[in-house]
Amino acid sequence: NKYETIIVEKKGAVTLITLNRPEALNALNSQILADMVDAFAAFDADDSQKCAVLTGSEKAFAAGADIKEMSSQSFAQMYGGNFFGGYERITATRKPWIAAVNGFALGGGCELAMMADFILAGDKAKFGQPEIKLAVTPGMGGSQRLTRAIGKAKAMEMCLTGRMMGAVEAEQSGLVARVIPAADLVDEAMKTAEQIAGMAPLAALACKEMVNAAFETNLAQGINFERRLFHGLFGSEDQKEGMAAFVEKRAGNWTGK
Ligand code: HXC
Repeated sequence: NKYETIIVEKKGAVTLITLNRPEALNALNSQILADMVDAFAAFDADDSQKCAVLTGSEKAFAAGADIKEMSSQSFAQMYGGNFFGGYERITATRKPWIAAVNGFALGGGCELAMMADFILAGDKAKFGQPEIKLAVTPGMGGSQRLTRAIGKAKAMEMCLTGRMMGAVEAEQSGLVARVIPAADLVDEAMKTAEQIAGMAPLAALACKEMVNAAFETNLAQGINFERRLFHGLFGSEDQKEGMAAFVEKRAGNWTGK
């Protein structure tokens, strides 16, 4: 493991990335950002890897941006240095990845989880955007992604009061895909990732791209984009294989072509 603040393990076609700054509840400092950016780029570039899981510890996915690192920064340093702008490179990951959230996902931690293609939550997970208590606001997409995920009323209340949302409410509100007993969360996330890794790779890339387009386009453009990608998959060998396999009542063998 070449990283200081994360652990990266390849398990078959799934990369497991574990945030590992237990002394600070995985608070996100510049080192953990640099390590994650590098790990996600390596995952995306590695043909043997098809899906990733990002997780933290049972106590904390991540308790936010590192307050101790941020506290003395000036406007010039934050704005001039594009503080945490590097996270955009994680959201540029083209292959699917899942956030498996146990414990606290607060501030930047909640925002990081929301960068995933979807979140699986342990039953003790707690989500929140408490930045207002520090006299700042979300700064890594929280005001936008949380609002899109759970709607204005709950997002506004959470951002203005800093209250935390438990796993069940998060699932009911559409923030997380499923709630799983905390002790089983990572195993279940790995199983889900293996399932995705077993799909035809081009279809998985296209699926991710078109669902994400729903947040960037109007309905007609989004539907058109979807249809073009759908049509495009008929140029792939895997589409022929997938449909032949269905007719022949067997599993498909994907080439990624
Ligand atoms: C730095 C942090 C930290 C953080 C926890 N720690 N969160 N250090 N940055 N965000 C450190 C604590 O200082 C402490 O270190 C150790 O982790 C354990 O935390 P405790 O507070 O002792 O644990 P506990 O009492 O169980 O409380 C857990 C907690 C609390 C409720 C999660 O730690 C907490 O409120 N943390 C801050 C959450 C927050 O405000 N996040 C938003 C940050 S702003 P020591 O050395 O004392 O043992 C943000 C902006 C995003 O995220 C935008 C960026 C562009």
